[in-house]
Amino acid sequence: MKTRNYILFYLNGERHQISGDQAGVMLSDYLRYHKNLTGTKIVCAEGDCGACSVLRFFPYQSGKKKNIFLPINSCVTTIAQMDGSHLVSVDALANPDHTPVQKAMMNCHGSQCGFCTPGFVMALTGLVEKKLCQKQTEITSCDAKNATTGNLCRCTGYQPIIDAAKNISISESESVAKRFSSAASQKDVAAHLKIPIALTGEKFSFYAPVKIKDALGYLNKNKSLRIIAAATDLGVVHNKRKSRLNQTLSLHLVPELYEIEKTSKTRLSVGARVTLSDLRLYVKDLIPEFAKFLDLFASPQIKNLATLVGNVANASPIADTPPFLLTMNTEVEIHGPGKKRFVKLESFFLDYRKINLSSKEMIVALHFDIPNKNESLALYKISQRKDLDISAVNFAARVSWADKEKTKIKDIKIAVGGVAATTLRLYKTEKSLTNEKLDQARLEKALEQLHAEITPLSDLRATSTFRHVVTENLFNKFFREQGVK
Ligand SMILES: Cc1cc2nc3c(=O)[nH]c(=O)nc-3n(C[C@H](O)[C@H](O)[C@H](O)COP(=O)(O)OP(=O)(O)OC[C@H]3O[C@@H](n4cnc5c(N)ncnc54)[C@H](O)[C@@H]3O)c2cc1C
Ligand code: FES
Ligand code: FES
Repeated sequence: MKTRNYILFYLNGERHQISGDQAGVMLSDYLRYHKNLTGTKIVCAEGDCGACSVLRFFPYQSGKKKNIFLPINSCVTTIAQMDGSHLVSVDALANPDHTPVQKAMMNCHGSQCGFCTPGFVMALTGLVEKKLCQKQTEITSCDAKNATTGNLCRCTGYQPIIDAAKNISISESESVAKRFSSAASQKDVAAHLKIPIALTGEKFSFYAPVKIKDALGYLNKNKSLRIIAAATDLGVVHNKRKSRLNQTLSLHLVPELYEIEKTSKTRLSVGARVTLSDLRLYVKDLIPEFAKFLDLFASPQIKNLATLVGNVANASPIADTPPFLLTMNTEVEIHGPGKKRFVKLESFFLDYRKINLSSKEMIVALHFDIPNKNESLALYKISQRKDLDISAVNFAARVSWADKEKTKIKDIKIAVGGVAATTLRLYKTEKSLTNEKLDQARLEKALEQLHAEITPLSDLRATSTFRHVVTENLFNKFFREQGVK
């Protein structure tokens, strides 16, 4: 089989071919220290501040084709993971003149010390790109706030930046896609996406097959190979020198892993490479509660890369999607040597960061319910800050009612994160509410059960008592929202 031992991407319209250990360098370091493109700043090096934002277009996408450049954090991704991408850094924008985004930032005093400014310019350029694609000419405050959720500024207080965003002249803006990608570069990339990668340096190796069976072959031969998706979890750990990414298997060249599909009227299948942004777009009308909840997940820069499967496989007890997935009868589709198996998500989480997956196996997709419109579904996240913060507690409840008046529950699923070593289904609490008349006394009994069923820890995000109280409050909030007194 023909393989290549190099990574290919286009940066600011120029072709870059990288091999050996250099492929393991973080993209932000490559831009600044290898290419002297110092417009891109590095501040937190963990995806939290947005100063390192660049724009990226990658041809394989899920759901409807969008073909637009999206902002990503360059500090938590290796160059290897950018294989097949068209990238644009802030340095290339102002040529020959300032862009409408840059002009608006200057006119509205959106910059003071200036350190965060390149990141905001990239986030807002990504927003303009989206508006151009949707043929819209206006940016609202809400658009501006959503687009810059992943960018921190210590000086301006944000209002001048929001004013700048609203003053961007979209009609005078030129599409980044038009400026920085050509038919020739797209053809070159498309041809390369069909060729698997076997790149080995002294300290960094990166394999990227184009077929699932070849991925399993690599896993079978090499026990220490780490599957890498977007690395928004793994990349942070790598940057903090806690565990280095040196032997990685990427599934970015396997087209079927980008599929989101309704496999029946009531089930959805989400492939291992589906990003949270693509998923959010897909479920916007199908599961609006989940789409709205995803707005509270990280930042656009993170969601444009991070996968749903990565969130589940990372098995953090405070990961935000497992509570929802645990209420949706989720099955994890796992492929291993010579066989595939489907594991219920409840049995997939074994213990703290321990999952039911051997080193020779990989997750191919997650399959879960599309809730019926007559059911009630609520998803909550409690964190110290509303945006771009890790949860102290997250909570999901899904109820199928026995009657229209909502006086009796036919089926209930409650799942909570941050209150035990894994995200937890509250089976006993659920049982105490099923097929019983719902009244205050019943809810109080269920609350006592809930209190006994969770065992939260105290840590830097919250105390055990806080987590207890918050979980009980979320339980009450859910029933109040359903009109149960
Ligand atoms: C700034 C920042 C903010 C964040 N905010 C949130 C937040 O609000 N809520 C939240 O829940 N998380 C958050 N995260 C964590 C992270 O973004 C998510 O967990 C994300 O979904 C991980 O996906 P990924 O594709 O980056 O996974 P990766 O980091 O690439 O991988 C995560 C784990 O999954 C494994 N894996 C990936 N794909 C497969 C596969 N196909 N088969 C088997 N194993 C696989 C990897 O080996 C690794 O162990 C945040 C992270 C950052 C840096
Ligand atoms: S440097 Fe802060 S997000 Fe990358
Ligand atoms: S202008 Fe100084 S951090 Fe934003």
